[in-house]
Amino acid sequence: MTRRAEQESVDVPVRRAAAEAHPNIALVKYWGKRDRTRNLPAVPSLSVTLGALWTRTRIGLEPGLEADRATLNGEAVSPPQLARVRSTLDCMRALTDCRWHAQIESHNNFPTAAGLASSASGFAALVVAAAHAFGLELEAERLSELARRGSGSAARSIFGGFVEMACGVRSDGADAVARPLLAPSDWPLEVVVATTDTAPKTVTSTDGMEHSATTSVFYDAWVARADADLLAAREALAARDFDSLAAVSEASCLKMHAVALAARPGLLYWNGATVDAVRRIRQLREQGVPVFFSVDAGPQVKAVCLPGYGERVAMELGAIPGVGDTLVSGLGDGARPLPWEPFP
Ligand code: PMV
Repeated sequence: MTRRAEQESVDVPVRRAAAEAHPNIALVKYWGKRDRTRNLPAVPSLSVTLGALWTRTRIGLEPGLEADRATLNGEAVSPPQLARVRSTLDCMRALTDCRWHAQIESHNNFPTAAGLASSASGFAALVVAAAHAFGLELEAERLSELARRGSGSAARSIFGGFVEMACGVRSDGADAVARPLLAPSDWPLEVVVATTDTAPKTVTSTDGMEHSATTSVFYDAWVARADADLLAAREALAARDFDSLAAVSEASCLKMHAVALAARPGLLYWNGATVDAVRRIRQLREQGVPVFFSVDAGPQVKAVCLPGYGERVAMELGAIPGVGDTLVSGLGDGARPLPWEPFP
């Protein structure tokens, strides 16, 4: 039997699968954990899923493998990342009779671990592919919970368009899941991603959050205000009120970085080009261009704009010294299975 015929045979149980997921950018930021072991967020968040960037993941479950193995863009993933992959898969194995380990191959079409949310798309693609390979039929909410164990923001990448992530109150984390708010077509905003440095960040989000929670004098105020920011963003979305969304999103981003800057020692994720791009975005808005900025735990700048303004904003940001590639993305769909192809 050829491999394809074998794959299509109904007698062969599904033990391999593929999936695609897109990263997302939080407009109301997640920064801080209420439980590090279960990866439970201390604050709710709200994001947009980016259609132009993707992670594609193939997974094969093999009876002879002694441990899960994973590559990203052809290279073995780092030990801390692999540990998170293994514990996510352990949670999934616990839901089935299958104890086989996995051979995982992922590809990103954008820089990894540089503040472009590669862990979000990575873990969302992983759980969708793995659920399929393990033969688990899980609701999107449960996929979101599993993805969250790998990376908090991955819980949001299970869904497309505008997505809200609850911090939940339960100690088992069953209520710390994402849910979709608006489909991409409901408000088809554009997002310009301006890359200012492709090197992996030196302080991971998890370490930065922990350091902020334990040493930043602003951390408690940040957590106390998070629900109000979420409500303001929800209302702006419901009314398709771009100016209000811009105001709450920039405030949330700047507050997150203020919390990190006030840690001891302070965490500075931005570089000079990040500052210049943020200033340029504000100037453009003063000149009537509907655009606002967002920056995560890395130096890249994301500019969110009304439909039709992406190319202009990309051109303006691309002209700033220190800004490398710019790309314009529409909003993307949630994570989805792909047809399985053999490992090359
Ligand atoms: O998903 P994590 O654990 O890498 O954390 C993401 C943190 C930020 O990107 C800075 C904010 C967010 O809400 O995505």
